[in-house]
Amino acid sequence: MSLHGIAAKRIVTCDPARATKNDPLGVVEDGVILFDEHSVSWVGPRAQAEGKAPLVDVGGSVVTPGLVDAHTHAAWVGSRHDEYAMRLAGADYRAIAAAGGGILSTFRAVAAATEDEIFATLSARLRRMAALGVTTCEVKSGYGLEPDGERKQLRAIRRARADASLPQIVATFLALHALPESARSSRDHYVLRVATSLVPEVANEKLAEFVDAYVDQNAFTVEEARLVCDAAKSAGLGVRMHVGQFADVGGAQLCAEVGARSADHLENVDEAGIRALASAGVAAVLLPIASFTLNQPPPPVAALRAGGVRLVVASDANPGTAPSESLPLAMALAVRHYGLTPAEALLGATRHAAHSLGLKRGALVPGSPADIVAWDLPHENALIQPWGVARTRFVLREGHAIFGVLA
Ligand code: NIG
Ligand code: FE
Repeated sequence: MSLHGIAAKRIVTCDPARATKNDPLGVVEDGVILFDEHSVSWVGPRAQAEGKAPLVDVGGSVVTPGLVDAHTHAAWVGSRHDEYAMRLAGADYRAIAAAGGGILSTFRAVAAATEDEIFATLSARLRRMAALGVTTCEVKSGYGLEPDGERKQLRAIRRARADASLPQIVATFLALHALPESARSSRDHYVLRVATSLVPEVANEKLAEFVDAYVDQNAFTVEEARLVCDAAKSAGLGVRMHVGQFADVGGAQLCAEVGARSADHLENVDEAGIRALASAGVAAVLLPIASFTLNQPPPPVAALRAGGVRLVVASDANPGTAPSESLPLAMALAVRHYGLTPAEALLGATRHAAHSLGLKRGALVPGSPADIVAWDLPHENALIQPWGVARTRFVLREGHAIFGVLA
């Protein structure tokens, strides 16, 4: 592919080198992005780009980096609408889980599905996410619970990862999510097998880049998660963790101790936990769709911000607590319910999200992959309104359209 260009009235680069106090997103007005097969080669004023490449002029459509969804459970099958209705009638999420519903309900759906079925459902879901502007998506396993089920989910994720017409996938082995019924009487053995056998196997077979654990009351303890984190580090895998969704049991401190890239949820985290995250450079992945559907108060966003913790916004797409596939909806709720600024929400769904995944993406800078969205909207602040539908004109992953047409 030779050099291509997109001209637009407003290009939101998210480039830290361009950012100023009054322009935290590094906007180029009346600008051009030049890119080739994979990467951006130049961004700047239109006048300086004349004649360098054929230009597609998108006029008043605002252009941003592709969105990066840093926390999803997108490889699920089945539906938990019955539980949602029960919760609306007053039932408690953790009580439903304790009675064999919740994660265990999706475990049964995944157990009954073939790898092909999971792959097909995941691919279709990722295509809908691409239409919403997502060019990179973290996808967790965690509904297999038994070794064979986890392998099946991770293989389905690996197949989707090989498809360049979908968003780029970062795979996470959600090693400790719920205790399957078969392990009720052998909890220690279950955790130990995950740490000593499954984590190294997942690393050897390159089935995932990260390991995750659900550290909470009624989930897994800090000590249990630490075994898995240590195994992940020995196997060369990164760590990101579900922490403090319902109770602060010290998960933030564990994230800091093991050098996790992110601590996710954080509805419940105290000052000491925030300090630990800040000093270890662990990003906070905020999941406002989950706290919206659970009707929970927001995490302490002001304290996280004041402490200097990097804020990421993600969808948490899952059949229980975030039955949505929409990162733009998460951004809208992050602003409306969590008090993020529009600029924080966009950086949290682009550059900061990519950083939490260890990727140099999420900004329109020379050398970074040409993941570009042209929106059917005039300004980046229009993105954080809760449209409920896709408002993209085209979405490029590495210079190639994965939604719409570059025209
Ligand atoms: O991020 N809390 C743990 N995991 C998911 C929910 C999973 C489920 O309910 O299926 C979450 O909210
Ligand atoms: Fe989650």
